[in-house]
Amino acid sequence: MDREGFVAALNQDLELEYQSMIQYIQHIATIKGAEYQSTLDELAIHVRQELDHALALARQIDFLRGVPSTRVREPAPSTEPREALERDLALEEAQLVRYRERVEQANELGLPDVAESLAPLLQQTQEHTRDLRGALG
Ligand SMILES: [Fe+2]
Ligand SMILES: [Fe+2]
Repeated sequence: MDREGFVAALNQDLELEYQSMIQYIQHIATIKGAEYQSTLDELAIHVRQELDHALALARQIDFLRGVPSTRVREPAPSTEPREALERDLALEEAQLVRYRERVEQANELGLPDVAESLAPLLQQTQEHTRDLRGALG
């Protein structure tokens, strides 16, 4: 992968973080039931971390002389709690695979600083995946 392809992939990562934020906001506001209370508390932490991820990605894209995307991938609305959490998990798992690839690619391209700044995204995405797997039982 060349640098241009790498920046394009980072921009797709950024668009997925926008989607993640929108999805969590809708799910946090609409999921009801005492059995989901602790999960909702976790999702409220996730959504703020997704904002940090989006900011980190946008800064790296700018650093690599790209233009951070403003394109939003709109998630399908979800009203059923389990379905909502399954969608959240599917998105986190897809992001986890992408961030593993991205850290590797950054190192291959001789961009260790970029790889380092992506490390927290990878780690927190791992935690989000774990939280959601736990919530779904
Ligand atoms: Fe994220
Ligand atoms: Fe996440």
